[in-house]
Amino acid sequence: MIQYGIIGAMDEEVDILQEEMEVHLEKEIAGLHFYQGVLEKKSVVLVRSGIGKVNAAVCTQILISEFKVEKIINTGVAGALGEDLEILDIVVSTELQQYDVDASKFGYKTGEIPRMDTSIFSAEPALVKKAYEKGLRRFGEKGIKKGKIVSGDTFVSSVEMKHRLEKEFKARCTEMEGASIAQACYMNRVPFVVIRTMSDKADGSANDNYKTFVTKAAFRSKELVKDIIREE
Ligand code: ADE
Repeated sequence: MIQYGIIGAMDEEVDILQEEMEVHLEKEIAGLHFYQGVLEKKSVVLVRSGIGKVNAAVCTQILISEFKVEKIINTGVAGALGEDLEILDIVVSTELQQYDVDASKFGYKTGEIPRMDTSIFSAEPALVKKAYEKGLRRFGEKGIKKGKIVSGDTFVSSVEMKHRLEKEFKARCTEMEGASIAQACYMNRVPFVVIRTMSDKADGSANDNYKTFVTKAAFRSKELVKDIIREE
């Protein structure tokens, strides 16, 4: 049976999964708490990575090297970039990129990682398909989209930056971990998908909306994660 690694950055995203899990083993590595056990009758390792790209990348590598997880799902919330997205809509990642890599002085485009064969990391098509189909069934066509997600170590809360990210990267939403998880998975050849529910619109109202909607948004991502692993 496949063992999934499930990563959430924050308590709001992880506690609600842990409550539903049968935990067999808890292990602390690099200050992170890994919960190995059963969710929806499937073998999983659940972990709160902490916020930001470095935390998420370290966490992903431990899941792969120490726990030998075979697929990784990142669950959580994000700021909407696309005008067609409302708060509480869901984005299933097709690909991810770090928008804050900048070696433009050497002729690279923003977001391009120097001397790597790619800077845009693709989620596993089969996981994307399953997540999208399950999401359609649970949330309806208006509530779920597929597309590119960009990540950086910034909470985006201005219209200028929101528009820049949407235009430059053709991304549907932004958050602070997904692309680094994607890169770590790519480097280890581990399939992954990122599921993000919109907690805000990454604009001037983002702080207030985030506080209002983070719990509800995290709950919706959690429901979809359960739908995905239930079937495997
Ligand atoms: N996570 C949720 N909303 C976000 C935003 N506006 N910027 C970055 N990460 C987020």
